[in-house]
Amino acid sequence: MAASGRKAVVVLILCMLCCNTSLLPCSASSDSFLQCLSAMMPSELVYQQSSSSFTSVLQSSVQNPKFVTNTTVRPLCIITASDVSHVQTAVRCGRWNGVRLRVRSGGHDYEGLSYRSVQPEVFAVLDLARLRGVQVRPGDDSAWVDAGTTLGELYYAVGTTNPGFLFPGGACATVGVSGFISGGGIGLMMRKYGVGGDNVVDARIVNANGDVLDRFAMGDDLFWAIRGGGGETFGVVVAWRLKLSKVPPTVTVVNVLRTMEQGAADLVAKWETTILQPPVLPDLTIRVVLQYRQAFFQTLFLGGCSDLLNTMRGLFPELGTTAADCHEMSWLRAMAFIYFGNTDTPVEALLNRTNNVGNYYFKSKSDYVRRAVGKAGWDSLYQQWLSQNGNGQIILEPHGAAVGGANTMTTSPYPHRRGVLFNIQYGSNWCCGANGTEAAAALGWLNGLYGFMAQFVTSNPREAFANYRDLDMGQNVIGSDGLSSYWSARAWAERYFMGNYRRLAAVKAAVDPTDYFRNEQSIPPLPK
Ligand SMILES: Cc1cc2nc3c(=O)[nH]c(=O)nc-3n(C[C@H](O)[C@H](O)[C@H](O)COP(=O)(O)OP(=O)(O)OC[C@H]3O[C@@H](n4cnc5c(N)ncnc54)[C@H](O)[C@@H]3O)c2cc1C
Ligand SMILES: *[C@@H]1O[C@H](CO)[C@@H](O)[C@H](O)[C@H]1NC(C)=O
Ligand SMILES: *[C@@H]1O[C@H](CO)[C@@H](O)[C@H](O)[C@H]1NC(C)=O
Ligand SMILES: *[C@@H]1O[C@H](CO)[C@@H](O)[C@H](O)[C@H]1NC(C)=O
Repeated sequence: MAASGRKAVVVLILCMLCCNTSLLPCSASSDSFLQCLSAMMPSELVYQQSSSSFTSVLQSSVQNPKFVTNTTVRPLCIITASDVSHVQTAVRCGRWNGVRLRVRSGGHDYEGLSYRSVQPEVFAVLDLARLRGVQVRPGDDSAWVDAGTTLGELYYAVGTTNPGFLFPGGACATVGVSGFISGGGIGLMMRKYGVGGDNVVDARIVNANGDVLDRFAMGDDLFWAIRGGGGETFGVVVAWRLKLSKVPPTVTVVNVLRTMEQGAADLVAKWETTILQPPVLPDLTIRVVLQYRQAFFQTLFLGGCSDLLNTMRGLFPELGTTAADCHEMSWLRAMAFIYFGNTDTPVEALLNRTNNVGNYYFKSKSDYVRRAVGKAGWDSLYQQWLSQNGNGQIILEPHGAAVGGANTMTTSPYPHRRGVLFNIQYGSNWCCGANGTEAAAALGWLNGLYGFMAQFVTSNPREAFANYRDLDMGQNVIGSDGLSSYWSARAWAERYFMGNYRRLAAVKAAVDPTDYFRNEQSIPPLPK
């Protein structure tokens, strides 16, 4: 014990001497990094490449098999932190030895940046899946949530321990709370309660010095930035205190499917005109999924069926919603229904962190719409694109109400607010192979569709959603000073963050001036 403690001190002092300008000047020292870790945390939490479990731990939460099979740079090791002190150790050892960390919570990053590096560099994965838990009490309008918790685990804890309250998260239960909030976080309850980042009341973050800061210690600017300014930029969030909101005992889910022949394009054209039209109806969200020759209208109403039908009669009678379409249930059951697609799956299944990704590869892109596309546009989208490819999908998430209210642009960094009708996510799936003919066809379709949609969506900048990460928009360029370039990053960062980009870069310069926390699309420090 004493000997290893002494060894740790020696290693640390050497590291500090070597890196005392803190600009990561020393070339990465893998051996001293691993020694530093082994001196300061239990070795069974660190999986090196030689470990027989290395691959299974690396792949444990990978959500896109595209990045499993391909030969992108592999981490030096995976650190499976089970305590905040392990996170501090990983940051300190990493910084002192010039080894960067890829932080992983739920592993859903669309470009796999939480466990792979596109640049050839030495890095370690800091996996937070063991750092999970929800502290929630009956009647309490907030809950502390450990960083590695998934949305499904959060919903289950809130819905079972504190029924009558909800957290406005997304539809996919295996998404990590931390990545979700770090990118803003949109979902079916945001028209009433705002995006994920708007619903954080405190947080604990490990900064680039390895210190743990709460909301008051971190200050207003950093507390603002971490609630939507992108992950892997300002530090490692280890816990969030989330605001919970009241929900009625019964909510209603309605799924209505319409084909092209049944007028899907007309219905979508009508739907887009209802979103910002008064009266504002924050309790009602209708998300639309377009696939092949169909439109799937998925409604969540924070109230009972009869109120919903009354509302729909005035707002959107063309959809033809009837009482037979209504599924009334608790909010928790509704989250399970929306995720699993059936009412039989028990709510406990929300605790399952394994995603059935199979062999399907996917690539996504996103857009925002501020002016209705119109019937002719939806018609041609179906004719020319959707009906040509059964493996493509377009998801439309309505904004408005609480998301788009006055002054919300600065509530949290998510900038797609006032005047936004809806977010679009384009997805293309294929099986299998990162660069075979199937991949070329699927990506060709996606890129063609994205080009076609330019006429209907925002421009200058063409807004994009940070949580639907897309490296086609650009990657950080590292300057001769060793820092990622603020000017180069405008190509993608102004599309994700718009007018909030500069403020985010100023926060970055203040809290991590040496740019230790970095990936291909992290916010660069604002130049002096
Ligand atoms: C099937 C599916 C459905 C989705 N549905 C939605 C949706 O409805 N709404 C929505 O908004 N998004 C949705 N997303 C996108 C999702 O929110 C983002 O991919 C999000 O980043 C995933 O978070 P994660 O923790 O699972 O990912 P990870 O891959 O673990 O992390 C994502 C990024 O955040 C960083 N990061 C992770 N944890 C931390 C931490 N503790 N501190 C600092 N940085 C951290 C990572 O380094 C990485 O850069 C969906 C994604 C998938 C695959
Ligand atoms: C790995 O996957 C990425 C993303 O699809 C791709 O850009 C890259 O070319 C792939 N690398 C190899 C060696 O296949
Ligand atoms: C968890 O989900 C995966 C993927 O859908 C499934 O294969 C597995 O059986 C589930 N595990 C349990 C315990 O339900
Ligand atoms: C993908 O591309 C890489 C590098 O260009 C090549 O080595 C590999 O064989 C290709 N794989 C397939 C399935 O075409």
